[in-house]
Amino acid sequence: MKQLTITHVVVASLTAVILLVALDRAGELRGPRPGYVPLAKIAPAVVDPDKGKPPPHNDTVADLPDGKGRDTVFYACAACHGVAIIKAQGLTRDLWDASLDLMVSRHHMVPMKPEERTEVLDYLVEQFPPRRKGRSSENPFLK
Ligand code: HEC
Repeated sequence: MKQLTITHVVVASLTAVILLVALDRAGELRGPRPGYVPLAKIAPAVVDPDKGKPPPHNDTVADLPDGKGRDTVFYACAACHGVAIIKAQGLTRDLWDASLDLMVSRHHMVPMKPEERTEVLDYLVEQFPPRRKGRSSENPFLK
């Protein structure tokens, strides 16, 4: 009987300790530490509305090489980004075509009318074809 009582006391004490620790960890027993300032007050979240947007540019039509369709390409593309990002590419017609699809699907470009798209593609392939063989576009180890 006495044995049972001691066991009861031990179990009850342990339960109490566990409960207290749990409450403490849950923050129920203590207020905020003195001097505690919520992070949101120190550094309010800054949301940059231009995040992910291409940088602004001052390009004009003259920044694209002269050729048929130059104006169409400039006005279709330069609303969103400079021409450097276009000139940096050298692609096949299929890949230029896929790039235009990407502009529509990922970047919300308004789809072009078919004849306009053909004109743009003609210009892009003419002016920015794949670079010389053996440079980046081809794997030299597969020759
Ligand atoms: C509605 C906006 C919009 C229009 C219009 C647009 N683009 Fe883009 N384009 C983007 C954005 C956004 C990116 C990503 C820029 C970045 O990563 O800095 C991009 C990136 C690109 C890239 C680089 C892709 C890469 O993989 O690095 C190419 C090439 C490109 N555009 C070509 C064009 C061409 C050609 C046109 C016109 C026919 C065009 N874009 C019109 C929004 C647009």
